[in-house]
Amino acid sequence: MERYEKAFLAVCAAVLVIFLCALGYGSVAMGVYLPSHGGTIYCNAGQKLRKVLLKTPPFDHKGVQEIAPGKYRAVVIAKTWTFTPDEIDLPAGAEVKFVATSLDVIHGFFIVGTRVNMMLIPGQISEFTYRFAKPGEYLLICHEYCGRLHHTMSGKVVVK
Ligand code: CUA
Repeated sequence: MERYEKAFLAVCAAVLVIFLCALGYGSVAMGVYLPSHGGTIYCNAGQKLRKVLLKTPPFDHKGVQEIAPGKYRAVVIAKTWTFTPDEIDLPAGAEVKFVATSLDVIHGFFIVGTRVNMMLIPGQISEFTYRFAKPGEYLLICHEYCGRLHHTMSGKVVVK
């Protein structure tokens, strides 16, 4: 009986080591990480989130800006059922930091075929940095159920 116990413990230890190696490989070699929290937008009582947000940098200038040579920032606001802007144009190979939030309910921000995958929460700023190496058209979708026309909420990233 003890022999089986030892074998079972050895298998458990091996599985743990394999999982830790996979985690290390994913985060170091593949660069997989969670979206970061870019800040909070505070509203006082009686203030409308919409009015405060549209005056809060960087959301007062939506769209793509070049912040350094080869580095871009894409500022996006989600609201039922649109992304503004709904088209993001980037040169191939550029590094882009997506800075996004929601004006109303929780939305998703997922770029198909990439690791860009964020949840957009009203009042919270979500950030994710990604490099589009290959030119092409990438579909941006909302992947958090946000109401009747959730399935129509989309945009695109055009990499030339
Ligand atoms: Cu926005 Cu689903």
